[in-house]
Amino acid sequence: MIEKKQLPGILRFLIKLFQIILYIPIQIIFIPFAIIGLIVAIYKEMRKSKKLGISFSAIKALQHRWLMHYFNTRQDHLSIAFTKKFPCESHFGMWSIMGALIISLRLFGFPAKLGKLVEPGEETVDSTAGIRVLQFDKIMEKYVDEMEQIVLPGAGFDLIALRFTKGKKVKVFELDQVNTLNVKVETLKKAAIMHDWINYIPVDYANESWVDKLLEAGFDKTKKTLFLWQSVSLYLEADIVKETLRKMADLCVDGSIIAQDFYSKAFALGEYSKTAKRFMSIIEKMGEPSKFGIDMSNDPKAEVESFLKECGLKTTEYILFGEKLDIEPFYCIVEAEKL
Ligand SMILES: C[S@@+](CC[C@H](N)C(=O)[O-])C[C@H]1O[C@@H](n2cnc3c(N)ncnc32)[C@H](O)[C@@H]1O
Repeated sequence: MIEKKQLPGILRFLIKLFQIILYIPIQIIFIPFAIIGLIVAIYKEMRKSKKLGISFSAIKALQHRWLMHYFNTRQDHLSIAFTKKFPCESHFGMWSIMGALIISLRLFGFPAKLGKLVEPGEETVDSTAGIRVLQFDKIMEKYVDEMEQIVLPGAGFDLIALRFTKGKKVKVFELDQVNTLNVKVETLKKAAIMHDWINYIPVDYANESWVDKLLEAGFDKTKKTLFLWQSVSLYLEADIVKETLRKMADLCVDGSIIAQDFYSKAFALGEYSKTAKRFMSIIEKMGEPSKFGIDMSNDPKAEVESFLKECGLKTTEYILFGEKLDIEPFYCIVEAEKL
C-alpha cells in the first residue's frame, strides 16, 4: 500500500483540504456538547478531585490513557470502563470535547496530533506522555512471567497491573496515598472490574514507612520482584527519592528489577519549555509541585548512573527520549538492579 508520505505534495494537500472540509461541520455539531462537556470535565477534574483529596497528576495520566484509546494509539478498555464510573473525570465531557476529532480520525483519517506517535529518539514534550505508557507496557510484558512479585509505588489510576497480571501467578502490590487508592478501589467496584488479586496499600512516602506497610501486606523479601515506578519521582523531594530507591534496592534479591523514569532538572524547575511549564503549573496549582529532576544538560546517562549508584543500584537499560533531536533531553526511562 502507498504511504501518505509517498504521495505527491499537491495530492497530499488536496487530501488534507478535503479532510478539513469534512471535519468542520462535524466540529460545529459538537460545539454545544463541547461547551457543556468542558464545564462538567473541569468541575470533576479540578473541584471534585480537590474535595476528595486525590492526586490531580494521576487523573491527568488516566486522561491520557483515555485519549490513547480513542485516538488508536493503545487499546485500553479497562481505563475506559474505569473513567465512566470515576468521580473525578467525565467520560461524556471527554467525548464532547474530543468527539469531532475522534470521529473524523476514524471516518476519514483526519490527522489528529493527539495520540500521535513518533520515531524512537524523536520524542518531544507532546509525545512523551503516550510513549512512556507504551514503554512501561513493554517492561511489564518483558518481566511479568519471570517475576514472583510486582510492586507499583504511586500507582495512581494506572491499570497496567490489571491489564498484564490477570490470571498470572505473580503477587501484585499497589501503593499510593490513601484517598487516591480508596477512590481507585471504589471506582473499580462500580465499574465491575475484577481486581481481587491486587493488594492495595495506602501510604504517604513522605511521612510513613512504605516498606513496613508492604511487608505487612505480605511482600516476601526472598522473591524476585519488579518495581514499576512510573512518573512519581518528579513529585517527591530529592532525599525521599533517594531513600525510596535505596529501600527498593534493599528489598531486591538477584534478578529483581527497578524500572522507573526521571525528568530533567530543567523540566522540574519549569525552565525546559513554555508548553511544559504551562502544564506543570496547572498540576502545581492543584497541589503537586514538581520537585525532583536530574541534570540532563551535559551527560544525562552518566548523571542517571551516578544517581542510581548512590542509591545502591546499577543501570541495566536506559532509554533517553528526544535523543535524536537537537535540544536538551528532559526525560528517560531506566531499568536498574541491585549493585
Ligand atoms: C503522575 S501520578 C503517576 C501515577 C501512575 N504511576 C501513572 O503512571 O499513571 C503520581 C502518583 O504519585 C503518587 N504520589 C505522589 N506523592 C506521593 C507520596 N508522598 N506518597 C505516596 N504516593 C505519592 C500520587 O498520588 C500519584 O498517584
